[in-house]
Amino acid sequence: MRIAVFASGTGSNYRAIAEAAANGRLPQVELALVLSDRQDAPVLDKAAADGVLHRFVDPKGYETKADYETKLLRILEEQRIDLIVLAGYMRIIGPTLLHVYRGSIINIHPSLLPSFPGKSGIADAFDYGVKITGATVHYVDDGIDTGPIIAQEMIRITANDTLATVTEKIHQIEHQLYPAVLAELTEKG
Ligand code: GRF
Repeated sequence: MRIAVFASGTGSNYRAIAEAAANGRLPQVELALVLSDRQDAPVLDKAAADGVLHRFVDPKGYETKADYETKLLRILEEQRIDLIVLAGYMRIIGPTLLHVYRGSIINIHPSLLPSFPGKSGIADAFDYGVKITGATVHYVDDGIDTGPIIAQEMIRITANDTLATVTEKIHQIEHQLYPAVLAELTEKG
């Protein structure tokens, strides 16, 4: 199964997936493409270092979201992408992409959905004072972090935790969870 990772930032989840693939833990996965909406996203450097095809597509170069996504679709089709893996991609997927890839786009979100959707799931959970939070992998639908849940993993927030330590704990479980989910999904075919 040929996958494209969409990311806007650091790419630590990309790294975890790439390492799992390199270590033979994702035998059905071909990491075919990394796509970013930000030219300065460190994930692009990581993909370059790994020799993975990577593309920056500037959303500002397109008049509408539909035009932008049509361009992305052309790239995805050229690369025969089966599954889109969102890993810190800071854009809402629109109808153009969903029309073609619905059911084949997954996302990782740093909270136990449906609690704390949106851009700052970790901080929102921490500020609320919950004692358990975590990470969720889900299918992408038209809402924001609303699609069917595939898998979740939890962490505890203790009295000694700070936002930084909670963030670190969540990233650690994400880096286990995302490759594990990918292994399972792609084995099923
Ligand atoms: C992760 O915490 C993910 O849950 C969220 O964005 C962050 C991306 O981090 N959607 P990275 O770029 O993979 O390091």
